[in-house]
Amino acid sequence: MPVTAVVGAQWGDEGKGRMVDYLAQCADMVIRFQGGDNAGHTVVNAHGKFALHLVPSGIFNPDTVCLIGTGTVVNPATLLEEMRSVSDAGVSVDNLWLSNRAHVILPYHRLVDGLQEAARSGAQIGTTKRGIGPTYADKASRFGVRLGDLKRPTYLRERLGLHLEQKNRTLALFGAPPIVLDEVMAMCLEWGRALGDRIVDSLPLVRRAVRGGQRVLLEGQLGVMRDVDWGTYPYVTSSNPFVGAASAGAGLPPTAIDRVVGVVKAYSTAVGAGPFPSELDDADGERLRLVGAEYGATTGRPRRCGWYDAVAVGHAAWLNGFTSLAVTKLDVLDGFRELKIATGYRRPDGTVIDHVPDTPDMARVEPVYETWPGWQAATTEARAWDQLPKAARAYLRRISELAGVPIEFVSVGPERDQLLKLEDSA
Ligand code: GDP
Ligand code: IMO
Ligand code: MG
Repeated sequence: MPVTAVVGAQWGDEGKGRMVDYLAQCADMVIRFQGGDNAGHTVVNAHGKFALHLVPSGIFNPDTVCLIGTGTVVNPATLLEEMRSVSDAGVSVDNLWLSNRAHVILPYHRLVDGLQEAARSGAQIGTTKRGIGPTYADKASRFGVRLGDLKRPTYLRERLGLHLEQKNRTLALFGAPPIVLDEVMAMCLEWGRALGDRIVDSLPLVRRAVRGGQRVLLEGQLGVMRDVDWGTYPYVTSSNPFVGAASAGAGLPPTAIDRVVGVVKAYSTAVGAGPFPSELDDADGERLRLVGAEYGATTGRPRRCGWYDAVAVGHAAWLNGFTSLAVTKLDVLDGFRELKIATGYRRPDGTVIDHVPDTPDMARVEPVYETWPGWQAATTEARAWDQLPKAARAYLRRISELAGVPIEFVSVGPERDQLLKLEDSA
C-alpha cells in the first residue's frame, strides 16, 4: 500500500477477487476501475462464498469504502440484485459508492451484445452477453448515459432520446422491435431512486484518500490477454484490464500507484474464443478443469485449461510493471507427475519468439515447453514457504524468474486463510 493495484496477468479468473478480499482486510478504499458485471470475482470467507460481479471485493470489510469507479459500466438492475444478495448474507453494503461518471448498461446493450454475437456467425467472441461491448462503444461514440444522469430527469430524457433514436435504427437492422422511451425512462428513474444517494462525484473522495495517505486498492477485472489493445483482439473485452487504465478508471494520477500485484494462476485458463497456445485438449486439461473447478463464475461455461504460459505472463509483467506476483491455485497441481511451462512460441517457419504476437500470428504458434517435476504431496495445509514440497518451490521459483518479478503470495485453496505471504523467500 498506500495505492496498490491488483490485476489479472492471464485470461481472467486468476483469483483477483480472493486477493482483493484478503488485502482489503487492511484497506481504507477499494475501487473497481474498469469492466462491468462480466466479472465473476469469487470470495470465500467467514461470511460464505460469493461470486461478485460488480460490487468491489473489499465489501466484507465494513471499514473499507468500496467504489465502483468511473471506468466501469454499470447495469443498475444486476447491481441492485447483487447488493440484495450480499446484504441477505448479513454483509452491509452501506460502504458502497458509485461514480456519477460511470456509464449505464441499458437493456438495449445486452440485447445487442447477443444479436451481434449471433451475427458473427463462425467468428463468435464468446462474450458474457452482459452488454459490455455495446456500452463501451456508446461511451466512445458519446451516446452513452451515465449514472449521474439517473438523478436528473429532464437531462436524462434528452440523453435517452438521443440514445434511443440511434439504437432503434440498429435494432431495426437486426429485425428487432424498437425500444420505447417512456419505458426506459421509467426504469432509469426507478434505478435513480434506488441508487441515487450512492451516486457521487468520486474524484474528491479518491483525492482525499490518496492525499491523506490512505490505503487504496484498485481492483482490476479480467486479464491482459483480453485487453482491448494488448490482448488477442478481437477476442477481447472492450476495456483495458491492465494497470495503465487504473489511473483513468479510478481517477488518480498514474504516479500515485506504488505497487502492482499481478495475480497469476499456477496454470492457464480462458473462457471464450481466441488463440490460447498452451491449451490442453487431453486428460491433463480435463484434470485441471475438474480439480480446479474451472467453470465460469458468471456464465457457468467450462473454462479452457492449459499449462502455465510464461510468454503471456511476461507480456502482462511488462505492461503492468508488476512489483510482485500472487500465484493462485497451486494446490490444483498437486499430484501431477510432471508439469509444463511454455517459455516461447514457435512460428510455422520454426523461429521461436518470446513475446505475444498479433492475433492471426498468435493463432499459428506452437508453445515451446520446458518440463518440471510435479509433487506428490498436498499443499493445501501449507502456510509458509518451507512447508511447500521442494518441487513446488522450484516450480514457483521458475515462474518468478521467467516473469522477472518476485512472488509475494501463494494460494493453496479458495479460503481466505489458504494463503502464504512470502517475505524474501521466493
Ligand atoms: P477472479 O475473476 O480473478 O476473481 O477469479 P474467479 O473467482 O473467477 O476464479 C477463481 C476460482 O478459483 C474461484 O472459484 C476461487 O474460489 C478459486 N480459487 C482461488 N484461489 C484458489 C486456490 O488457491 N486454490 C483453489 N483450489 N481454488 C482457488
Ligand atoms: P473476471 O473479472 C474470464 C471474456 C469473455 C469473452 C471476452 C469478451 O472474472 O476475470 P465481454 O462480455 O467482456 O465482452 O466478453 O472476455 N471475459 C471473461 N473471461 N473472466 C472474466 O472476468 C471475463 N470477462 C469477460 O469470456 O471471451
Ligand atoms: Mg472471474
